[in-house]
Amino acid sequence: MKILVTGINGQVGWELLRQGPLHDCRIIGFAHNTLDITDSQAVSRELENNSPDLVINCGAYTAVDKAEAEEKKAWAVNRDGPAWLAASCAREHIPLIHLSTDYVFNGLASKPYTETSATAPLGVYGKSKAAGEEEVRAKLSNHLIIRTSWVYGIHGQNFVKTILRLVQEKEELKVVDDQWGCPTFAGDLALALLTMAKKIHTGQTNCWGTYHCCGATAVTWCAFATFILDLARKIHPVKVRNIIPITSEEYPTTAPRPKYSVLDCQKVYSVFGIRLPALSTSLDAFFAEQGK
Ligand SMILES: NC(=O)c1ccc[n+]([C@@H]2O[C@H](COP(=O)([O-])OP(=O)(O)OC[C@H]3O[C@@H](n4cnc5c(N)ncnc54)[C@H](OP(=O)(O)O)[C@@H]3O)[C@@H](O)[C@H]2O)c1
Repeated sequence: MKILVTGINGQVGWELLRQGPLHDCRIIGFAHNTLDITDSQAVSRELENNSPDLVINCGAYTAVDKAEAEEKKAWAVNRDGPAWLAASCAREHIPLIHLSTDYVFNGLASKPYTETSATAPLGVYGKSKAAGEEEVRAKLSNHLIIRTSWVYGIHGQNFVKTILRLVQEKEELKVVDDQWGCPTFAGDLALALLTMAKKIHTGQTNCWGTYHCCGATAVTWCAFATFILDLARKIHPVKVRNIIPITSEEYPTTAPRPKYSVLDCQKVYSVFGIRLPALSTSLDAFFAEQGK
């Protein structure tokens, strides 16, 4: 099958480009500089010219703190971009898989969020992503909105790479221990997206709507850092002696973060049979790929 993917220089887009051919999928990939999803004419032209079987939108404005100052840009990419894609897909009768985020929630829950939980984003990034979801729902019935969380990939910058660098540079690390979420390996998510795409292509049509799809282990950032450190130690000596848990108040950020954004992924398992691995399994896979 032929899949058009936007944002292929990002963590998830890059994995789709890498894994697609391994799963009989031809990926027509566009980076930001070859297809800007905020350019409505370019979006409809590329969909028309390439006639893909399905589109996966990995293009997004993901700088959570910077979005507070660059509000206009965040809304253009995260709300208007998906709107143009969904409208073009509707015209061409092409299904769309659109990626969204756990940051559409305010984090005040005490049990995992389901797809029907009320959204209440805290910052510009989450608000613009929630608005993007609404645009997709309004413009195209044949869509999947896939909310994921705390993504780390081989390609691009992320928390795992930052911790791997810091454990070599510092004797002591202070890491936030009161925000909970589910780290998601971009490689696992890409495979899940390709599985969904293929099921749609081979006739699964009773599946349209919103899904949660993230790694199977809920942790705090501090616990996540400890997992990474334990694996890093097995590979080479590290400088760090201690990881010290701190509160969000001790590590202020420009944009507020949800304290608890654990996603319930039962629906994606029931409908597609997809369950992402536990954190230790995915981190092993990340280290194995990274070491190649
Ligand atoms: N990263 C996370 O922790 C996380 C968590 C939850 C959900 N998500 C969601 O998962 C999806 C993929 O995330 P990711 O981690 O792969 O993000 P990423 O690494 O930041 O990649 C996003 C890509 O989108 C591109 N982009 C930006 N503006 C664009 C535009 N106007 N048109 C086309 N492409 C554009 C960026 O290119 P430039 O860099 O060249 O601008 C970048 O390559 C996003 O929808 C994100 O909201 C991510």
